[in-house]
Amino acid sequence: MDKLQVVGGKRLEGEIVISGAKNAALPILCAGLLTSGDLELSNVPRLHDVKTILKLLAQTGLAVSQDDEKLTLNGSAITTLEAPYELVKTMRASILVLGPLLARFGEAKVSLPGGCAIGSRPVDQHIKGLQALGAEITIEGGYIYAKCKKLKGARIRTDMITVTGTENLLMAATLADGETILENAAREPEVTDLANLLVAMGAKIEGIGTDRLVIQGVAELHGAKHAVISDRIEAATFLCAVAATGGDILLKNTRTDYFDVALDKLREIGLVMTMGPASIRAQMGGRPKPVSFRTTEYPGFPTDMQAQFMAVDTIASGSSRITETIFENRFMHVQEMNRLGASIQTEGNTAHVKGVDRLVGAPVMATDLRASASLVIAAMAAQGTTIIDRIYHLDRGYDRMEVKLSAVGADIVRIK
Ligand code: EPZ
Repeated sequence: MDKLQVVGGKRLEGEIVISGAKNAALPILCAGLLTSGDLELSNVPRLHDVKTILKLLAQTGLAVSQDDEKLTLNGSAITTLEAPYELVKTMRASILVLGPLLARFGEAKVSLPGGCAIGSRPVDQHIKGLQALGAEITIEGGYIYAKCKKLKGARIRTDMITVTGTENLLMAATLADGETILENAAREPEVTDLANLLVAMGAKIEGIGTDRLVIQGVAELHGAKHAVISDRIEAATFLCAVAATGGDILLKNTRTDYFDVALDKLREIGLVMTMGPASIRAQMGGRPKPVSFRTTEYPGFPTDMQAQFMAVDTIASGSSRITETIFENRFMHVQEMNRLGASIQTEGNTAHVKGVDRLVGAPVMATDLRASASLVIAAMAAQGTTIIDRIYHLDRGYDRMEVKLSAVGADIVRIK
């Protein structure tokens, strides 16, 4: 099990290239199941989760050819309509093969994803929506069995806003008979990126970017070329890093128009940012100011940035309150940060952070993807050496983070 060794106290200076968005790449790769044509994808991030979904897709018979960050998928020879437990248990996003397999082949057998560290994360909305489209669904032995000769358009309103729920239902609706209306749809930029790809494949979708998607089903979808949008969560993670350590970094290959709330919070912290067409220069001198926030669905403060901002708050010049409204257990990083000398009290889904003058390095353990990133940030701001264990969590969602950070001056090495 790999570990990261971080010696804190180094300012960050230099350039970081942001990779493609994990949470756009995963549904977009599953869209390859919807067509017998070629899907030519670029800017696909090199992540463990991407490797996992490609393994799963290859098992169905989808052809995958990779040339560095360019991927070509072809779904003309799909033979197995199944997503087995041993793969699904390692990555919940595998549920995203359910909608496409059902829509194109009328059948799918997908393992129920287990929960994960941050919450139970049921998929009842995915199932409810597919049933509304006419699917017969039974759950047996930990598997979802879905059958339907031809999905039929329907009006669906999910009980809560669900990102992958919206994506599953959107992909299924593109090949259903007639009109589907998805209300209470998620509006995350990664959902929009998937919708744009589906339109490029010949789907008919109105209301992209809003919470009401109207889809006219078509008989089939053709291939397309698409560049995955850059990862706003990765970009925000590095902006939090420089806010915590001080320095002057230039993020390249990023967008500046899809995380305004986070950028406003970073300005409140004291980060000075200069925007280019696809870049952000971020300069930080002095101690971070405390920021309070509550996570909500897009366009509100993203839950996937909560832990990283908390890391900055732990050394801020005052107190702050952080409320997590999306997941029921997304404070696993709190105890680990307190081991570094932070002063955080949790009360239900609210964390009260009292900024301390300094953190001190110690051995800590990563518990989930964004928590691991927050521990890297805290460790870089701490005095002395921190060893972060179980960093396979980090590798799921960050493309060689320690390489990118070392290149801008961080003292961070991977220990096998
Ligand atoms: C997506 O997860 C992201 N993953 C998560 O990113 C992100 O944290 C989350 O959306 C919220 O933005 C991918 O896109 C691959 P949800 P998802 O369905 O779709 C409840 C990361 O760090 N819910 O929007 O699984 C659910 O329990 C990961 O990159 C139901 O009750 O999240 C949660 O409380 C972590 N029933 C809330 O809705 C359902 O059928 C939002 O979940 C579906 C969801």
